[in-house]
Amino acid sequence: MLILAFACLLYLVSLTHSIASNTVSLSQIQASFEGEDIKRHCPCASKSLCKPVQRHVDREVFGFLPPNPRKSWESFDFSQLSTIAWTTDPALMCYAHSMGARVTADGRQGLAEVLTDASKRSQWVFDAVQQAESLHLDGINFDFEDPTEPGSSLALGYSLTVKHAAEVFHRHIPGSQVSVDVPWSPYDVDGRNYDWAGLAAAADLLFVMSYDMQSQIYGRCIAAANSPAALVEKGLRQWLDLGVPRSKIVLGLPWYGYDYECQPDSTGRPMQPSDTVCHLAHVPFQGAPCSDAAGSQKGYLEIMEILRSGRNTTHMQMDSTEMSPFFNYEAKDGSIHQIWFDNPESLSVKYQMASDLNLRGVGIWNLDTLDYESSDPVIHHQTSEMWEALKIFSGRS
Ligand SMILES: *[C@@H]1O[C@H](CO)[C@@H](O)[C@H](O)[C@H]1NC(C)=O
Repeated sequence: MLILAFACLLYLVSLTHSIASNTVSLSQIQASFEGEDIKRHCPCASKSLCKPVQRHVDREVFGFLPPNPRKSWESFDFSQLSTIAWTTDPALMCYAHSMGARVTADGRQGLAEVLTDASKRSQWVFDAVQQAESLHLDGINFDFEDPTEPGSSLALGYSLTVKHAAEVFHRHIPGSQVSVDVPWSPYDVDGRNYDWAGLAAAADLLFVMSYDMQSQIYGRCIAAANSPAALVEKGLRQWLDLGVPRSKIVLGLPWYGYDYECQPDSTGRPMQPSDTVCHLAHVPFQGAPCSDAAGSQKGYLEIMEILRSGRNTTHMQMDSTEMSPFFNYEAKDGSIHQIWFDNPESLSVKYQMASDLNLRGVGIWNLDTLDYESSDPVIHHQTSEMWEALKIFSGRS
């Protein structure tokens, strides 16, 4: 017992020493002892499954799974998937580890409140690494999205937090992965002007969110693609031009789309069922007069359901400029809506782009937008086609 307590103390000393310049309170020390107990408890069938994943993955397939997903993760294609972010379900952790996939924590909790205060930042990192250790996770994903001025203390505080977290995580969880979600372009998207060089240097991966790309519409206020291929490529080239290494870039893509209720045009003529141009309600965002906030997000499964229901008033068409599918449908209240989304065909173009640019990975927001349980062969096929398309990048065909 004495030896065990001594070992715990040694562990604590090493832990507290690593949390640079932070004072550690008695309650934290007690919390660490409790943390040690949790750490010893492995919920998996075999204790070895609680070990962090160590392998290096050349071609990352990085999927988000929000807390409390609807669908069964056992049906995910783990021959391709290498990281799952945000869900901490112990059963998923054991299963993912058995398949060699990393599970990384949701790093949003309480983050915004600590970024400009050095001692609060250290405390936050200390808590985060302890929690990750107790849940046997393989790292953390940062997703701070508040607007910031370039060079502000908030922007600098964010990159210092990620730097500190990367040091502490790598030391305490060998092989762990620290990733940061960044907008599709480094140039003032939604007012986000962070210290990109600092973040890129500190993190193992930058997950480039190449979606929600109509968040600031300065031109015509009409419905358009969530992830237009040419603009996706432009954004990626901007990241590369800033000096972010290819080996750190994950191209994040949407498994969802936007549903817009089409408004009358400027002459007051209402949207007709087969019109191509869908005028949006003017919803300003971050200085832009018009935004995708006029629509609502729908998952791929839900969108395919609308098409199957026969409520569509046009065929699904592929826009040849934006390389994305869209169609109109009549909503229950009789209004005409237009949906822009991504399907295996439009995603394939972008998976190929990631491969051509020799990026580290591709990513998915999010894995819970498909139906993994339906016995309907059509739905089953739609789900497997989405995973199949990923093989263009992962090469695991
Ligand atoms: C609705 O979509 C289905 C499936 O793509 C298609 O067969 C049908 O013709 C479409 N309806 C109209 C009115 O275009």
